Amino acid sequence: MEEVKKYLGAFNFDHVGIAVKSIEESIGFYQAMGIEDIVYETVESEGVRVAMLNLQNSSKLELLEPTNEASPIQKFLDKRGPGIHHICLRVDDIVQVMDNLKRANVRLINDEPKKGAHNMMVAFVHPKSTGGVLLEVSQKS
Ligand code: CO
Repeated sequence: MEEVKKYLGAFNFDHVGIAVKSIEESIGFYQAMGIEDIVYETVESEGVRVAMLNLQNSSKLELLEPTNEASPIQKFLDKRGPGIHHICLRVDDIVQVMDNLKRANVRLINDEPKKGAHNMMVAFVHPKSTGGVLLEVSQKS
């Protein structure tokens, strides 16, 4: 294991991603609970339509609906059904965090951060390296 540079930034809980067949059919529950601050976005390059439900303290719930059959969310739904898809931690320096993970030989899905929904830079860490949880790391871009 190569030496990692000490990360001096913060880790913030950002959101839980939830795979759904249809945002339209799923959103009613959250609205019935009283959540009103909801931002919609389609990320065609990822094959997802996203509904970000903004909670307090910058924490969120992210509903993910596939936009086509090749979407990774469609593959997840086919294999596992609707449910928790990933958790996301927001950091101050995603490049350094990913670099440290590489040095630690952690299995990554994205070697480099890419542009995600809601103007964030994101990268995913493979569940094999995290105890079975798909982990998204994000940074405001
Ligand atoms: Co996410």
